[in-house]
Amino acid sequence: MSEAPHGAPIKTPGQLIAAVIAGFAVPIVIIVLLAYYVDNSTRTGAGTDSLSEAEVTSRIKPIAQVEIRDANAPRVYKTGEEVYKAVCSACHASGAAGAPKFTNTADWAPRISQGFDTLLHTALTGKGAMPPRGGTSPDDYSDFEIARAVAYMANNSGASFPEPAQPASGTAAASGAAGASAATATAAAGGASDAGAAQATAAIAAMASVPQAAAPASGATQSADASQASKALYQQVCQACHAAGVLNAPKFGDKEAWAPRLKEPMDTVYNYALHGKGAMPPKGGSNASDADVKAAVDYMVSAVK
Ligand code: HEC
Ligand code: HEC
Repeated sequence: MSEAPHGAPIKTPGQLIAAVIAGFAVPIVIIVLLAYYVDNSTRTGAGTDSLSEAEVTSRIKPIAQVEIRDANAPRVYKTGEEVYKAVCSACHASGAAGAPKFTNTADWAPRISQGFDTLLHTALTGKGAMPPRGGTSPDDYSDFEIARAVAYMANNSGASFPEPAQPASGTAAASGAAGASAATATAAAGGASDAGAAQATAAIAAMASVPQAAAPASGATQSADASQASKALYQQVCQACHAAGVLNAPKFGDKEAWAPRLKEPMDTVYNYALHGKGAMPPKGGSNASDADVKAAVDYMVSAVK
């Protein structure tokens, strides 16, 4: 049998060229498609990224965000002017809602005559159309900053209140301790009223400014200028409450407030100062020596003799 002719599909040179080209091209096309297929997992169509981590996180994130502040970081207090401009001026610049107008002495005179503590109390707790703290939260503006704003407004409107004492930039623990002692103080005074609370906060601010370490510095009491030293202790510690009458402390220089107390023997008065009485913390919350505290009492008493 003769060999059957090849039924070769390639019969012409043209077909050969086509076959050679196809032989190269087809695998290449397949490789390209395979590579595309493997790589395809990272390509997503529109909308298919809705389960991506970023998308999900943004969808389930809490509505409220907690901003963590370092309680031990030294706090930068705003000035009275800054607080006034940011908050209080909304009403007090124009006199909106019957607010006493900034720099209008006629508006302010009757209010100023109530004294700084009453004004601060009103600013902190509100009155009529005046919202508590001008509508801010204690986290935004501390009592000290509100007090500064009150002083700034009043002093630009005819008053001459001293700049409120700045709470020490001490540790949270220190102010917490002061807060606790002031809180017990109010409780002891039985004054859980709003006024008591506001005064307690004022006292906390005042107490926090008491430089604990500085108190024994008046160990110079024994020296010739004993009166200077007792005055120093008064200024460092006692005046926080006794200058303005915070928590109903007998005011410095107020004869009427002191008279009934001074009917008692001096030893009793000293004892109250040393061991506390009602809202009056032992030694005013300081760690001064007994002699220094007694000297401070003498200094306060001499002002009402
Ligand atoms: C929403 C408007 C408004 C804002 C904001 C506002 N006040 Fe007032 N304020 C008033 C009104 C109204 C009065 C008068 C209240 C009254 O006598 O009945 C007033 C009164 C006062 C008084 C006098 C209180 C008294 O005993 O007579 C002080 C002090 C005061 N505001 C401080 C502040 C301070 C500080 C701020 C900013 C931290 C502030 N206010 C923000 C509306 C406002
Ligand atoms: C946290 C506020 C506060 C501080 C600080 C403070 N006191 Fe007082 N003090 C009071 C209060 C409130 C009273 C009235 C207590 C009472 O009668 O219930 C008072 C009363 C007194 C009395 C009169 C006691 C009597 O009835 O005979 C003397 C004296 C006194 N303090 C001395 C001092 C001395 C000295 C210092 C400083 C070393 C000082 N205080 C610091 C709040 C304070």
